[in-house]
Amino acid sequence: MRVAVLGATGLVGRTMLRVLEEKVAPQIPVDLYPLASKRSAGRKVTFFGREYEVRDVEDGIPRVDFALFSAGSSVSRMYAPLFVDRGAIVIDNSSAFRLDPKVPLVVPHVNPEDLYGHSGIIANPNCSTIQMVIFLKPLLDAFGVEEVHVVTFQSVSGAGYSGVLALEAEEEGGVFDDTPFPRRIHRNVIPQIGEVHEGYSQEEWKMLNETRKILHRDIPVNATAVRVPVKVGHSEAVHVLLGSTPPIEDVHAVLDEFPAIVNLRDDYATPVDVEGRDDVFVGRLRFHPENPRLLSAWVVADNLRRGAATNAVEILLRLVG
Ligand SMILES: NC(=O)c1ccc[n+]([C@@H]2O[C@H](COP(=O)([O-])OP(=O)(O)OC[C@H]3O[C@@H](n4cnc5c(N)ncnc54)[C@H](OP(=O)(O)O)[C@@H]3O)[C@@H](O)[C@H]2O)c1
Repeated sequence: MRVAVLGATGLVGRTMLRVLEEKVAPQIPVDLYPLASKRSAGRKVTFFGREYEVRDVEDGIPRVDFALFSAGSSVSRMYAPLFVDRGAIVIDNSSAFRLDPKVPLVVPHVNPEDLYGHSGIIANPNCSTIQMVIFLKPLLDAFGVEEVHVVTFQSVSGAGYSGVLALEAEEEGGVFDDTPFPRRIHRNVIPQIGEVHEGYSQEEWKMLNETRKILHRDIPVNATAVRVPVKVGHSEAVHVLLGSTPPIEDVHAVLDEFPAIVNLRDDYATPVDVEGRDDVFVGRLRFHPENPRLLSAWVVADNLRRGAATNAVEILLRLVG
């Protein structure tokens, strides 16, 4: 199987190589095409015991079966149609096509049926949305979900390499000129991820619109997205108004059965516990003492794996059957 990774030198692209190496290459031989911009053309990446040279995507579009994109929206808009024209299925991590009605937006554990009928491009949702919909899906199916209120605590790696470099420079007392953050992030928290429109940041709009598309329900999702000085791992305080009043044991039972969830009950995970893991860790699960429909939880996942690379590779695996 020929697989291109566009953005192979980035945080998500490098994680994609690791996840492909773990989950695909042992079963299906992978002929890899690592691509990036001219900045890193000629660099070497190792994959499944072999060294490959990174090529500048501008130098030509290879003919591949799958192309995993993680190089930002403008690159996706420009190159996804060209890869599709050359016969590839593109699995895109950027926000370029996520809300396009012709493009499926898929979390394989949640809405695999949406994969069928794609026309060459499949979108991977935003990292904070993926971990939240995995938590919401079993609740929706078993009890109904009427409203979701969420506050996120998102790591700097969610903003790519430049986010990590900005934190590291500030930790050493310096500044990073190309910081993606609107304020200092070291010893700080920033309640803004992306531009603000009508009071909500881009990340908060993504959590609303993408959750609705994936779950096929117009559920109100009221998000406050916050950047925190953590390297890897997004945490979320999620409050869900259920459609019914199940006993907490029934909630535990549906979460326990759902793939990709580790239900920690009263305990909890922190970002350092989940780095390098693929599961969504649900903890501090409780009903409000005065509202038996109001369920709260602390939901944590590795944004580079579960929130990006692992989801993309799981889409690929569903498509190859
Ligand atoms: N980080 C996350 O947690 C996360 C989660 C979900 C989705 N995403 C999405 O995934 C994408 C990549 O994120 P990231 O965190 O991996 O960013 P990153 O670390 O900054 O990496 C960006 C990658 O894109 C490549 N690139 C940039 N401009 C390019 C161009 N004009 N042509 C070809 N390649 C180009 C870079 O190659 P060079 O080495 O040549 O510069 C690099 O490989 C973004 O769309 C982001 O929104 C990220």
